Amino acid sequence: MMVCVTLNVLFLMLSLCSPSFINTENANVQEKLFLSSMGLSSRPKPSHQAPVPSLLWKMFKKSTKQTSTSHSDPCLVSEYGVRGNIVRFIQDQGSLISAPAVHCFNCVRKHLFFNMSVLEDVEQLSFAQLEMKFKQDLAHLGQHVFSVDLYRVLRTMLKGVTHESSRKLLLSQSLGPGAHASVLVNLTDLAESWRKPGKNYGMQLEMQLTHLSNMLQEHAYVKSAQIPELHTSLVVVSLNPLQCRSRRKRSAAYYLPVTPSNVCKPRRLYIDFKDVGWQDWIIAPQGYLANYCHGECPFPLSESLNGTNHAILQTLVHSFDPKGTPQPCCVPIKLSPISMLYYDNNDNVVLRHYEDMVVDECGCR
Ligand SMILES: *[C@@H]1O[C@H](CO)[C@@H](O)[C@H](O)[C@H]1NC(C)=O
Ligand SMILES: *[C@@H]1O[C@H](CO)[C@@H](O)[C@H](O)[C@H]1NC(C)=O
Ligand SMILES: *[C@@H]1O[C@H](CO)[C@@H](O)[C@H](O)[C@H]1NC(C)=O
Repeated sequence: MMVCVTLNVLFLMLSLCSPSFINTENANVQEKLFLSSMGLSSRPKPSHQAPVPSLLWKMFKKSTKQTSTSHSDPCLVSEYGVRGNIVRFIQDQGSLISAPAVHCFNCVRKHLFFNMSVLEDVEQLSFAQLEMKFKQDLAHLGQHVFSVDLYRVLRTMLKGVTHESSRKLLLSQSLGPGAHASVLVNLTDLAESWRKPGKNYGMQLEMQLTHLSNMLQEHAYVKSAQIPELHTSLVVVSLNPLQCRSRRKRSAAYYLPVTPSNVCKPRRLYIDFKDVGWQDWIIAPQGYLANYCHGECPFPLSESLNGTNHAILQTLVHSFDPKGTPQPCCVPIKLSPISMLYYDNNDNVVLRHYEDMVVDECGCR
């Protein structure tokens, strides 16, 4: 089966020297390993492909340019001025609250819930920002303003019934016809507290319309305008320190010469994510030049083969006893990162800087 073979080619490429079975079971194990290093429990199956926020596209394009040219810190998210190698747009899973509330007559109430368990324990959260984006611009409000009150929920509430002791006001803002169509709130500390098991009760959002000429007489003329529809998401920047090593300059291996030779060296390999059935969840790139190491490590091991002392001795022994001792392996000794944009198991869009994806140099080990 073509897919299995390709899968193995993808995941076992770096260990061609050690014999391995090419079978489906092995391919599944390799795939799981790769996915878990991206913090994924299984291959994501996005139920609806949420549109990619334009900011993430911009960041992805910028990082792609950077990996191939400059030396800037790959683990700095300059858009927010914080350290991180993962940027997630976490979808809001809360729903409208239909239970009536005396204090909030004729207003729209919504529960906001962001599942923070998509962050792995090892990740350090460096920034979280709530974005409330109105789907229409606010000009249609005409003679109305609407107020946005955001509360942190402190404990479970049955059917959304609100007791003031069970929530805490985080933000109160009035938006008129000329206002910006989005509201940003720094929720770094709150999002960190949500990571503790059983501590995330989410937030409540209350939106209420008032007529400009009736600021004191609330609820008058409310029907003539509408509370704009809203899209909420939480941008979370985090750092997985295990996947963020110091910058290594990418060599010219991107453009490997196609010279025929049996000696150990990087070979050109383009991995198309379609070939491994990952096109549904990897948004970009569609594939990339991964390369691989292949070739002999013959006696005498020349300097250009970057052999270790051990490899040099092993080649020597091999030259005396070819059957009993194998040649050293031709393996990657320098790899470089790429950036990937994908959907995780919860349909969130994630931008991740991912180490050791491209073989730049090979050596005999
Ligand atoms: C949050 O997501 C995890 C998997 O990432 C899932 O196991 C869990 O049930 C989710 N929690 C809620 C409240 O949806
Ligand atoms: C966001 O809040 C955190 C914690 O309160 C603070 O350290 C950080 O400077 C704030 N970031 C921005 C961009 O305001
Ligand atoms: C060995 O390393 C040098 C530089 O460190 C590099 O130019 C060369 O391509 C490497 N050899 C192989 C076989 O990759």
